Amino acid sequence: MANSDTTFAQSVQSGIAAALIPAPLHDAVTRLCSAAASLARLIALGEIAGDHGSEVGTNLGGDGQKALDVIADELFANALRGSAVCHYASEEQDGVICLAEQGSYGIAIDPLDGSSNIGVNISVGTIFALFPVAETPEATFLRQSDQMVGAGYFIYGPQCCLVISFGAGTQKYTLDPTTGQFVLTAARLTIPAQTSEFAINTSNYHQWHRPIRRFIDDLMQGKNGPRGRAFNMRWVASLVAETHRILTRGGVFLYPGDIRPGYEMGRLRLLYECAPIAFLVTQAGGNATDGRDPILAQPATSLHQRTPFVFGSFDKVARVATYYDTDDRPKA
Ligand code: AHG
Ligand code: MN
Ligand code: MN
Repeated sequence: MANSDTTFAQSVQSGIAAALIPAPLHDAVTRLCSAAASLARLIALGEIAGDHGSEVGTNLGGDGQKALDVIADELFANALRGSAVCHYASEEQDGVICLAEQGSYGIAIDPLDGSSNIGVNISVGTIFALFPVAETPEATFLRQSDQMVGAGYFIYGPQCCLVISFGAGTQKYTLDPTTGQFVLTAARLTIPAQTSEFAINTSNYHQWHRPIRRFIDDLMQGKNGPRGRAFNMRWVASLVAETHRILTRGGVFLYPGDIRPGYEMGRLRLLYECAPIAFLVTQAGGNATDGRDPILAQPATSLHQRTPFVFGSFDKVARVATYYDTDDRPKA
């Protein structure tokens, strides 16, 4: 399925980009780009290629699995076979898959993020984090989140883009469909400090703990409230789409823990959603916490563990934490 004429190498060799992808990972990133370009073509075909939004099962996390979740999972796993990546931990797999006996890296991946949007033509994505291989497949991933060597996401929308970082800032590459090349379009993304946009699923308002309710109340009161100005809300229900908007024009995203059974630690998974996004956002000058403490300081103790997640413009994320400091409720 991977399209051999999708090349990342040429744009990587265009000088600045080559310095930003560690040489041992060039091949793996090129393979990920080829798989992503194939997936972008499949998504663009919509119903012509079949009913990719149909439910085909459930994953360990209890989430409904769509046909495209499974297709994307197989696509990325197969693309990486024979690369330097030997351990594969996926949202769609119960445990770690060994792609090869030997290798230098493991990938934690959400093959298709925003699955609820497949059938309604809204941007979806793929999120991944890369870790140095450890003594066992599980140990590669069950460690402090800041031990990752790189992270990225593909967004499948009006443009197909790769946003990636290996610790030297966050870069953006845009797929040129006419050449199959991912072209460097931003050498160092920087999240705007000022913002008037927040992203949260407000249908859960009555389930939130008091600090989050108070933070959102203050925003909703606008210029007559304590913030003294108006704010705007966005909620796409596709983490990659929210991240791409926030990396581009600022904002703050919140998926807190709440009182619903199973949502005590929120909905989003640390290993292959929150930690890679936190890495990218932090490298772009932003901030990412669980409401109070840095995401990247969190150790992963199980592959599919969830965490409350707040990220975006640095000061806005820091302000959320002050609502906890003045609140005596226990951590979510
Ligand atoms: P996934 O499709 O990989 O399960 O991810 C969906 C996530 C994330 O993309 C989004 O921010 C969130 O679920 C939306 O949750 P709600 O449907 O509860 O708003
Ligand atoms: Mn997801
Ligand atoms: Mn997913």
